Amino acid sequence: MEQKRIIIAIDGFSSTGKSTMAKTLARRIGYAYIDTGAMYRAVTLYCIENGLAAADGTIDEQRLTQQLDKISITFGVNAETGQSETYLNGRCVEREIRDMRVSGLVSNVAKIAAVRHALVAQQQAMGKEKGIVMDGRDIGTVVFPDAEMKVYVTASAETRAHRRHDELLAKGDTTVTYEEVLQNVTERDRIDTTRAESPLRRADDAYTLDNSHMTIDEQNQWLLDLYHKIAGE
Ligand code: DC
Repeated sequence: MEQKRIIIAIDGFSSTGKSTMAKTLARRIGYAYIDTGAMYRAVTLYCIENGLAAADGTIDEQRLTQQLDKISITFGVNAETGQSETYLNGRCVEREIRDMRVSGLVSNVAKIAAVRHALVAQQQAMGKEKGIVMDGRDIGTVVFPDAEMKVYVTASAETRAHRRHDELLAKGDTTVTYEEVLQNVTERDRIDTTRAESPLRRADDAYTLDNSHMTIDEQNQWLLDLYHKIAGE
């Protein structure tokens, strides 16, 4: 059956494993994959490196807004691993943007309206040709409200904290406890769902995927089946 090129929007809380799922789906169907969380993380790293983040986590919104046009975020594919990596002003920052320093501040940056407007415009430009899988918090509601396929991924905060903690341990980071990760996850959920500017919420026409008790293979199959159903119509 002829498959039409569509936009696939995958939204949900942090550490639901949605990025891994989105990446796998994109690879299987030959679509580009865009991790919008990485874009907010890269802006956060810029703030840290340029003295725009105070010790208490407050972001200097005014100076950041003035400097937004100096921040270029791009993606490149690592030739060795085949994985997409995030670049901040031409420098690969894939590793730094995943550390706890950035994770602890990113919600404060992501709630700034000027930052969201700039990044949403870039994301919309990336989707002009369709054939993309984009994951984030507001993709199905704000960035592509007309996306043909919308998925809202959820899992309990405890399940997500365990996953995130295991990920950090696997990377050799033994300094962070499970309780600290759970606190970070819960706090980010609170900020992400209650912020005034495009809070995380399920689009009315999104399919919900609660993966608390699903294996990765089951989730991948669920997504692929949904894609075939929608793109084949
Ligand atoms: O998906 P993630 O954990 O890498 O996202 C990092 C932060 O960025 C998280 O606090 C939510 C925010 N974010 C957002 O507000 N909008 C998006 N489209 C993607 C991420």
